[in-house]
Amino acid sequence: MKVIWTLEKASIWARDKLQKANVKTFELDVDVLLAHAIKRPRRFVFTYPDYQIPLENMKVFQKSILRRAEREPVHYILNNREFWSLEFFVNGNVLIPRPETEHLIDHFLELISDQKNEKSSLEILDIGVGSGNISITVLKELPLIKVTAIDISADALEVAKRNAKNHGVLNRIQFCLGDLFPKGGLFPERFDFILSNPPYIAASEFDSLEPEITCFEPKVALISGKTGLEVYERLILEALLRLKFGGYLILEIGDGQLAQVKSLIDESRGFDKVSTVFDYAGKPRTISARRKING
Ligand SMILES: C[S@@+](CC[C@H](N)C(=O)[O-])C[C@H]1O[C@@H](n2cnc3c(N)ncnc32)[C@H](O)[C@@H]1O
Repeated sequence: MKVIWTLEKASIWARDKLQKANVKTFELDVDVLLAHAIKRPRRFVFTYPDYQIPLENMKVFQKSILRRAEREPVHYILNNREFWSLEFFVNGNVLIPRPETEHLIDHFLELISDQKNEKSSLEILDIGVGSGNISITVLKELPLIKVTAIDISADALEVAKRNAKNHGVLNRIQFCLGDLFPKGGLFPERFDFILSNPPYIAASEFDSLEPEITCFEPKVALISGKTGLEVYERLILEALLRLKFGGYLILEIGDGQLAQVKSLIDESRGFDKVSTVFDYAGKPRTISARRKING
């Protein structure tokens, strides 16, 4: 007998599968994946429970639920993540952009509003570009500037290029494969702003994270040595040599890392005007520091 899959029936089947796989967000995920499979908005799923799903769409949905039951993140299944109201292509080669990183953009825009210089002449560097979310958002916000973007992963750079093309900013971004600050290359000697959401998880902490992260997101985007601070240690010192006097370093920081990252900045003796931005949960999430004008 041919089974007729209505939205309600498909939803019950899928919720059960995801609940058994310990997916905490099973209700939301089912709605999102169902809407995607039938190419309709999410509200359609709630409004028409008796809608009969065409077989081809049901196959797509079933496949996506089986992937989600393996704990693959929804955004990799959809190959899409929204950041700063912009759509980004994502796959397993890049970190899924997190909403917390929007605080880094907010803070950058705040600092830039104080700049007396012609904004179009500002030199901006994004270290660890990943999907391109930071660089591309900055380029969309400031239509005259150019950005240099570095990543140690060639596969991540491919994703960032694809997103830059999709957003029409490919001609204003220079990509560079390398470890933090590669020597040589065509990029400027000194920058007005260095932005980075670097890896900051301690190797020992990694296994305690959710399988969505440990089994699917790239380790190179997450782990930063034994302590979680290794990339910051190098980045802060090297940034001093690559910032103009009065230029700013803006970093995302992980939970509980404020004091340590602040100490690294202070110990370098090259920065002043250190400030912290808190996320909506009240946690310190972004830190910025100015390279001393005369230092
Ligand atoms: C936490 S992810 C951030 C990605 C993206 N900027 C975002 O905010 O979602 C860190 C990125 O840094 C890159 N990365 C890690 N170590 C690096 C290094 N030593 N030099 C340059 N990039 C590095 C990773 O490949 C990854 O794309």
